[in-house]
Amino acid sequence: MEPIRIIRGMRDILPEQSAAWRWMESQLSSVCARFGYAEIRTPILEQSELFARSIGTETDIVAKEMYSFSDRDGSQLTLRPEGTASAVRAYIENHVERSEPVSRWYYMGPMFRHERPQKGRYRQFHQVGAELLGAEGPAADVELIDLMVELAASLGLSGCSLELNSLGCPACRPAYRESLVAYLRTREDSLCEDCQRRLATNPLRVLDCKQEGCARVADGAPHTLDGLCAACRDHFDAVRAGLEALSIAHRVNHRMVRGLDYYTRTTFELLSGELGAQNAVAAGGRYDGLVEALGGPEVPAVGFAAGLDRIMLMLSGSRLPAGPDLVFVATRGQAAWEASLGMVQGLRRRGLCVTSDVRLGSLKSQMKRADKAGARFVLLIGDEELEAGTVTVKDMTAATDSAAKQRSVPLDELAELLAGEVRSR
Ligand code: HAM
Repeated sequence: MEPIRIIRGMRDILPEQSAAWRWMESQLSSVCARFGYAEIRTPILEQSELFARSIGTETDIVAKEMYSFSDRDGSQLTLRPEGTASAVRAYIENHVERSEPVSRWYYMGPMFRHERPQKGRYRQFHQVGAELLGAEGPAADVELIDLMVELAASLGLSGCSLELNSLGCPACRPAYRESLVAYLRTREDSLCEDCQRRLATNPLRVLDCKQEGCARVADGAPHTLDGLCAACRDHFDAVRAGLEALSIAHRVNHRMVRGLDYYTRTTFELLSGELGAQNAVAAGGRYDGLVEALGGPEVPAVGFAAGLDRIMLMLSGSRLPAGPDLVFVATRGQAAWEASLGMVQGLRRRGLCVTSDVRLGSLKSQMKRADKAGARFVLLIGDEELEAGTVTVKDMTAATDSAAKQRSVPLDELAELLAGEVRSR
């Protein structure tokens, strides 16, 4: 029969990879906790309207990439393409602003976008994201960027570069937008079809179009920074001063506008030279109008998200910390197997990782399995051991002729001995 295949752009994380994922996730959680961020878990499914209203109907994400369907009652639902909209919905729905003036949240989990799959770009991918709600000043932007950089550092990622821009606010953006459109209109013929359409719907996106003709036009376009009002300019300068005080190197990228419409003022991206075309490891920015746009109070906010699949690509070449040692139990005969059960249970309850070959073949085949499984110790129980109330402990890493290679240990001393010698969970 023809086997059923995985959906294009989606991937299994197999057991041999999941230990590295777990390690990465626990590192990220502990850095977030050290910065005072608490975890929020939202549903993977939301009403489609939530993303249309926050990310924007003219963005690629909403216009082309969402996994949407009608539910049985006819309501339109979407698999979340990102985490910010859901976090803000939860913030509003739970009236969080009434109980705390500033909220620091992080989340981790799968997101879904129907993009063209390639290295570092998948249709189900994973993000860690952080959102700081309730603070308008540049200190919040600096804290978030510091957290993002620290997350990368905690995993040993090197060679990342930080890019920064400001998109202004509702007071200054309309005038900038007008000057940009005026400039682009004079060069309309050099723009790709998409950008000619964007001229009317979302002209800022022309600035980060990858097409050669558009890029050339964008290079000569007025800079968003030149259109900032005094308040936005001061905010941007203070963010840069904060980064400098932290010695976080960065570069202003005048063409960074981000692919989501909710941003105001600061936007930033952490890029890697190791990832090829999909080189953004993490990205984010300020979104002061979003809480209100989704029906909540006036609450400024800033956040970012990092792509875990991309981070994993960068980690796969490096040495990840070793997992716990494995203890393998090999028995000969029914009575020895029965005697081993309680012993194994006791060792596991003490935190040791213990396994066996449940097919219970010959001792030789069980030893082969132990070797294959990479066991640190093998515990042998046969007739002799049963009689003497002992276990033969084989240290798989000791030299063949050393005394430690094979020892006979009384059953009641076994746990103590192993606990002292293995890395446990
Ligand atoms: P984003 O730039 O769309 O922003 O995504 C953030 C990161 O998620 C990207 O830099 C990338 O590492 C990863 N990513 C995005 N799409 C894919 C994909 N198809 N495959 C693999 N990785 C991907 C956001 O999602 C915003 N919610 C960030 C934010 C939070 N802004 C404010 N708060």
